[in-house]
Amino acid sequence: KRIAVLYGGRADEHPISCISTAGVLKALDTDKFEAVPIGITKDGQWIVNGEDPRGWDLNGAELPTVKVTPESRPVILDIALGQDGFFAGEHADLTDAAGHGRHGAAVSLGHIDAVLPVLHGPYGEDGTVQGLLEMMNVPYVGCGVFASAACMDKHFTKVVLNAAGIATAPGITLDTRLFDAASEFAANADAVLAQVQDAGLKYPLFVKPSRAGSSFGVTKVEREGDAAALIAAVYEAGKHDWKVLVEQGINAREIECAVLAPKPTDEPAASWPGEIVLDRRNAGDDQFYDFDSKYTDSEASHVEVPANLPAETLERVRETAVKAFKALDLAGLSRVDTFVTPDGEVMINEINTMPGFTPISMYPKAWEATGVSYTELITRLIEGVLR
Ligand code: DAL
Ligand code: MG
Repeated sequence: KRIAVLYGGRADEHPISCISTAGVLKALDTDKFEAVPIGITKDGQWIVNGEDPRGWDLNGAELPTVKVTPESRPVILDIALGQDGFFAGEHADLTDAAGHGRHGAAVSLGHIDAVLPVLHGPYGEDGTVQGLLEMMNVPYVGCGVFASAACMDKHFTKVVLNAAGIATAPGITLDTRLFDAASEFAANADAVLAQVQDAGLKYPLFVKPSRAGSSFGVTKVEREGDAAALIAAVYEAGKHDWKVLVEQGINAREIECAVLAPKPTDEPAASWPGEIVLDRRNAGDDQFYDFDSKYTDSEASHVEVPANLPAETLERVRETAVKAFKALDLAGLSRVDTFVTPDGEVMINEINTMPGFTPISMYPKAWEATGVSYTELITRLIEGVLR
């Protein structure tokens, strides 16, 4: 079976997608599948014959990106009904990093049996690529349009979960497009502070873009009533999304549960819940599990599965994860990130419909600890969608 593997993409999380893909391609069962890697550059060009992700060093100092090389060819997405799917052709120009355009030679990708979109963040994990694949009538792994969009947007994730009776951290959503540009900080800071007070949010607060991942744009605001710190955090998050959440920091451990349902008719299965254990205090300057402690500082943390919690609490996390999976119409896979309070209450923090997928990421690690190997996991996900 020929599987198109999409990676890179337009999101801030582009390099994470590259390292996830390097891991997936190295582990793919080549007796069963032929991978057709398709890179998406940061500016949205789809290419084949790019740098081979299998050569990328997962522990390298520099995070890889998709680049146009002399060997790269553009991919044409032929969405005319009755066509075979993807073509790489001469009909499009490629533009390299220096801005020089050129024509690529025609190569047909031929028939594709399924697509594995290993894309994180907006324009990949948010329903946009899923919508394109639906229109092309090609099977793909993972959540559909609605579920992807709903989970990419942390505001709407809460709306759906709360309606299903699942608790989330209290918070407010700000539309930073409505901020008064002329008055800059001062007037907007007072308005935001007033909203935080009205909502009765307790400090510390976490300020985050509604649609981003990997801790991009997230800031912790420690001191009560610190209008300057709060508005600076809102502006920082606003660089990633005009929609910004201000959430009450929960005194809880963050426990993550991997949910798997390869076929649409499968009852979703929950892994043993896991926890990221920080090995060094103050693993990042911001004193929470930020981008650097996640990806560039390999000594900062390790994954522990099952998390060190009472059996009944682990069970409650699994049940909540499956309930959320159903409430949001999720499909294939998702990593449900929860908060577990000291008295065992379970809330949902966020849901990642295409979680980090390197061999040391939580999703594959959690399944490994539950009895499904990395290679087997990828095989099941692909076989679940083949027609
Ligand atoms: N958004 C990243 C990839 C994750 O949650 O794993
Ligand atoms: Mg995330």
